[in-house]
Amino acid sequence: MTNILKTQVHVVVISLLIQIAFSQVKTDFDVNWSTIKTMVRITNRLGDGSTLNLHCKSSDDDLGLKILAPNSSWSFKFRPTIIVGSTIFSCHFTWPGQSKRFNIYDDDRDGVRRGIPCIYCIWDITKDGPCRFNESDHAFDICYDWNGNPR
Ligand SMILES: *[C@@H]1O[C@H](CO)[C@@H](O)[C@H](O)[C@H]1NC(C)=O
Ligand SMILES: *[C@@H]1O[C@H](CO)[C@@H](O)[C@H](O)[C@H]1NC(C)=O
Ligand SMILES: *[C@@H]1O[C@H](CO)[C@@H](O)[C@H](O)[C@H]1NC(C)=O
Repeated sequence: MTNILKTQVHVVVISLLIQIAFSQVKTDFDVNWSTIKTMVRITNRLGDGSTLNLHCKSSDDDLGLKILAPNSSWSFKFRPTIIVGSTIFSCHFTWPGQSKRFNIYDDDRDGVRRGIPCIYCIWDITKDGPCRFNESDHAFDICYDWNGNPR
């Protein structure tokens, strides 16, 4: 085949693939962006047997007081704001002798196209602060202190 013919074949194949991809998006996987949800999961990793109490709120939702035994988890889902994000879920964490606050979800830090985005935002709560699961190395190494600074 000449190079020109090869190129034409490639173009035809590629445009066929694109058409197939789009027809599948329309029929099989109808991605409805308004129903995509972000999940936040929080696990008590205080590590000394303490129970962790937490109470998370956004400007719209009060998720109520949750009580987590050592190593147990709780999660919630919400619909992220894709275009102009300003969602913040702020949590108050208490355990014997301690009272801390942390924004467990903040669009500026965790949102699509922001700092370190997450759709599954998986957190371990340690005494030194929260650590998020890093999908690149499968470790809880995205850590912050209780003031929200990376550590
Ligand atoms: C997407 O989901 C929302 C909420 O369920 C619904 O109101 C809307 O009609 C859906 N859009 C499409 C294109 O299916
Ligand atoms: C919590 O998990 C840690 C690490 O796996 C383990 O050492 C500890 O015994 C567990 N604590 C409880 C109360 O299950
Ligand atoms: C996440 O893991 C990758 C791969 O190991 C690493 O390069 C990156 O620095 C980690 N992110 C954070 C915030 O630690």
